[in-house]
Amino acid sequence: MDHMRAIVITEPGGPEVLSWREVPDPRPARGEVLIEVTASAVNRADLLQRKGFYDPPPGTSPYPGLEVSGVVAEAGPDVLGFEPGDRVCALLAGGGYAERVAVPWQQVLPVPNGVSEIESAGLPEVACTVWSNVFMTARLRKGETLLVHGGASGIGTMAIQLAKAYGSRVVATAGSPEKLARCLELGADEVVNYRTEDFAEKVTADVILDIIGGPYLERNVAALNSGGRLVVIGLQGGTRGQLNLGALLAKRASVHGTTLRARPVDEKGVIVRGVKDNVWPLIEAGAVRPVVEATVPLAEAAEAHRLLENGQHIGKILLVR
Ligand SMILES: NC(=O)c1ccc[n+]([C@@H]2O[C@H](COP(=O)([O-])OP(=O)(O)OC[C@H]3O[C@@H](n4cnc5c(N)ncnc54)[C@H](OP(=O)(O)O)[C@@H]3O)[C@@H](O)[C@H]2O)c1
Repeated sequence: MDHMRAIVITEPGGPEVLSWREVPDPRPARGEVLIEVTASAVNRADLLQRKGFYDPPPGTSPYPGLEVSGVVAEAGPDVLGFEPGDRVCALLAGGGYAERVAVPWQQVLPVPNGVSEIESAGLPEVACTVWSNVFMTARLRKGETLLVHGGASGIGTMAIQLAKAYGSRVVATAGSPEKLARCLELGADEVVNYRTEDFAEKVTADVILDIIGGPYLERNVAALNSGGRLVVIGLQGGTRGQLNLGALLAKRASVHGTTLRARPVDEKGVIVRGVKDNVWPLIEAGAVRPVVEATVPLAEAAEAHRLLENGQHIGKILLVR
């Protein structure tokens, strides 16, 4: 077995540049497990990579795909805690749109009880992003209010459920009545239609999880309570904004920006352990559920990208072999 098939980005461009091709089989290096992939999932970052704006970190797989589920086929030297046959899901720096992928063992998690192997493919990226930003960086506490922009996104659907499970009040923004209704179903206490209302006039929050970036910066800071924490994880509206530092000082507030993909393996390992200890039990208890919009064959990843780009989805779009 020295070849597999993977989705190759033939050149930067639209969904049509995604091509299902034969490529060399990955081999597990020291500390890596080789996963026989059952499913992967689409993330917003994959669209940027396809367009040529988000290259994989040096030394990582050139194929898109930041998460998978599957079965451990092989464990390289120095792997701790996993062996062939284990059913797992994993956070990747790339390479998930493929039949096999090698990944550091620190980024691998068991499939949670009560969730199918396919559904679990859509959990690592959202769980690790929300856990690391909302809980590790912004230290959301019980009773505090979290404002989640894009509450119906893959990230948003996890953020709402997790913050509610930890006893916070949650406000979510979205751009359609259907998405707003779904945010309420997932547990949001209040919702704001950003197309018809200005969130900064309606809401204050202790922690804000933002995916819009520049154009929201000033209004996000205006919406923070004293001691508030704004975490920017997406720049869908642009990279540049205006910030009145006086407002930040007066509120003793802070602004953070992070990405998950480029973090060193050890840091990802700390996040993944935090997710296993703090998020997986809530999933196994049924308090936090995977939210899946659609399941598309992996070879037809282009179709899945069209769906995500179209923007009508709620939660995750999965890719299955
Ligand atoms: N930094 C990191 O480590 C990291 C990791 C993972 C994801 N992310 C970022 O997190 C974001 C969500 O990722 P995803 O994969 O979950 O994407 P996704 O499912 O495609 O969701 C994107 C969402 O953005 C919403 N949106 C667009 N404009 C909006 C606005 N002005 N206000 C509120 N919502 C708005 C869309 O909903 P409407 O129809 O309501 O507009 C849609 O639900 C992306 O920006 C992604 O790059 C960052």
